[in-house]
Amino acid sequence: MDVILCGDFGPGERDDWLSALSSAWPAGRWLDVEGARRSAATVRAAVVFPPVGDALQGLPNLGLVQSLWAGVDRLLASGEVPADVPLARMVDPAMSRAMSETALWATLSLQRGFFAYARQQGRRLWRPLPQRRAETWRVTVLGLGEMGRAAAAALAHQGYRVSGWASRPRELPPGVGAAFGDAGLGSLLPKTDVLINLLPLTTATRGLLDARLFAALPPGASVVNLARGAHLVDDDLLQALDGGHLGHAVLDVFAAEPLPPGHPFWTHPRVSVLPHVAALTDPHTAAAAVAANLQALADGRPLRHLVDRGRGY
Ligand code: NAP
Ligand code: GLV
Repeated sequence: MDVILCGDFGPGERDDWLSALSSAWPAGRWLDVEGARRSAATVRAAVVFPPVGDALQGLPNLGLVQSLWAGVDRLLASGEVPADVPLARMVDPAMSRAMSETALWATLSLQRGFFAYARQQGRRLWRPLPQRRAETWRVTVLGLGEMGRAAAAALAHQGYRVSGWASRPRELPPGVGAAFGDAGLGSLLPKTDVLINLLPLTTATRGLLDARLFAALPPGASVVNLARGAHLVDDDLLQALDGGHLGHAVLDVFAAEPLPPGHPFWTHPRVSVLPHVAALTDPHTAAAAVAANLQALADGRPLRHLVDRGRGY
């Protein structure tokens, strides 16, 4: 089967993917953009690392676009994927595990005061802080999908009091509570010490992390944004931190990436910045997920992890 592999790869990255994908699915003839244009009629699938520009236009027999990213907000907003072609997002257990590690690291660092100790080190200050027990810490995870469930499970396993939030009731990991819809969120926020965002970016979730939401959190609560920068209203976060209502923010994602050098987050003492690395797609593990969907397409079986364009995720 002819497959186009295209997108915004860093130096050497496309070769790494090509090697992993060819091993995972030797049945594919892997084409670049020019190759796909020459063989337009036989290209059946696309594996993409967005943005992809117009690479997917003019391929009349495209039956699957497989994203190498979990979040498809950018692909959907750009219109780069023809509306009648099924779009699948990346779901890889190794990626979910990486996300759970980041969520656990952030929560542990907040609970045990490790960010505060890093600030103290800068002042050569030797001052033990109160030690807080995990079972007294209430963590709310926004989103109970692949990423949110993995994070919630790891946090509950570590002993935290974990609740999740989603739009519809769904099966929960052991030890995790949940609430649904707007009223559900309203009930969780006042009982939250750490709020972790793992929602997809949609019209319903854009700007959700704003002044109103922060005001509903208890004083001293912290915010961890691991999903998309546009979920957060930057100025509202800065005001809530500077006004003393919020304790700390851990931010992996930003409205503009890379985060511009002059942005106040870089130097804010109560903000920890990561360069969008909470869970990277790893060719060594993700190639198997891609291969499974390509084989399903080849066999005429149902495709997995398809995006619901109506819902936007
Ligand atoms: P997913 O499996 O599609 O799960 C999305 C979850 O969000 C679902 O539980 C869904 O609820 C919930 N949700 C969506 N809209 C909602 C709303 N309006 N109100 C309440 N709940 C809502 O997605 P995923 O794989 O977990 O990924 C989530 C996001 O993480 C991605 O979209 C991406 O932006 C981000 N991400 C970031 C990185 C990174 O490195 N920083 C890496 C991977 C992913 P239902 O269950 O009711 O549908
Ligand atoms: C990363 O942010 C992803 O969506 O995979």
